Amino acid sequence: MKKIIIINGPNLNLLGNRENNIYGKDSLDKIKSECKKKCLEKKLEMFFFQSNNEGEIIDKIHEVDRIYDGLIINPAAYTHSSIAILDSLRSINKPKIEIHLSNINAREDYRKKSITSEGVDGLICGFGGNSYLLGIEAISKLIYI
Ligand code: DQA
Repeated sequence: MKKIIIINGPNLNLLGNRENNIYGKDSLDKIKSECKKKCLEKKLEMFFFQSNNEGEIIDKIHEVDRIYDGLIINPAAYTHSSIAILDSLRSINKPKIEIHLSNINAREDYRKKSITSEGVDGLICGFGGNSYLLGIEAISKLIYI
């Protein structure tokens, strides 16, 4: 079975209790269990990781080429600021997709620019928790073609 990792950035551990009008009422654990089901359908083994720490996220991205067949990442606020995460995404050679719960293009100006998406194959945003499931659909197509 092919393996993917879903990496979640800062404050996503608070989902369900955080600006529910923007991010929805589902917790990250609920999203994780929906992702697990979708991955089983797509014959993917899923690993799920969340950190509030930029360095830990970068260390995980560095594992991708060695351990996983694909990466889905929601870099959260680091999306708009982290050249370090962009550089680490550029360094890996496996399929990689960025996702966001909210439509970052329809929000504040400082959220409209995704620095990190310059280092991935594609970007899905604006579908709430379904952005994760659409990300899994997309990555399975990239892995299994
Ligand atoms: C987010 C969008 C970011 O702008 C924000 O900082 C987040 C969540 C999203 O999934 O919609 O923390 O990545």
